[in-house]
Amino acid sequence: MKKIAILASGNGTNAEAIIRHFHSVPHAKVTLIGSNKEEAYVLERAKNHQIQSFTFSKKELDNGSVKALLLLKGIDLVVLAGFMMKIPENIIDAFPRAIVNIHPALLPKYGGKGMYGMHVHTAVKAAGDTETGITIHWVNEHYDEGEIILQEKVAIADSDTPEQIAEKVHELEYKYYPKVIESLI
Ligand code: GAR
Repeated sequence: MKKIAILASGNGTNAEAIIRHFHSVPHAKVTLIGSNKEEAYVLERAKNHQIQSFTFSKKELDNGSVKALLLLKGIDLVVLAGFMMKIPENIIDAFPRAIVNIHPALLPKYGGKGMYGMHVHTAVKAAGDTETGITIHWVNEHYDEGEIILQEKVAIADSDTPEQIAEKVHELEYKYYPKVIESLI
């Protein structure tokens, strides 16, 4: 049985889609959920699914405490799902080619520091782009720069608001991220 840990900072709708997907996958499941935010709704989702969860500070991420827990729990793949902190080298070194992220745009566009969640969709709208999408990629020591695993696009209508763009991107995320994770594991 392969074990997946999800790190998330907020609502956790992607985490929910992934957890549910793996209910019907016999050889892998989500066994651990971590968040840097005490109030993140993803922790509620973990409770509802009876999945162990934990919270941590930036210090604990950087000093090896989070890495130690992931190793102790025998995690095979670390999945970032709306996780808004940079993964430090201590974790990257301990999980070579075993940390995956989803970014709500077509990297390398709209990547890097400060480009997360609605900030991305607002920037896409402001630029007048006619398409956006998702990027699923391996995580390396550079923010949003790891090797790309999959990109999927969606058209933007002139009338779409940033919220409507976000909704379209979320649909792509729920459709593709769980399946890609399954293929990786
Ligand atoms: C998702 O759209 C994800 O791609 C994005 O945050 C959202 C989280 O939604 N991630 C980033 O911006 C990472 N840079 P969720 O909490 O409902 O899954």
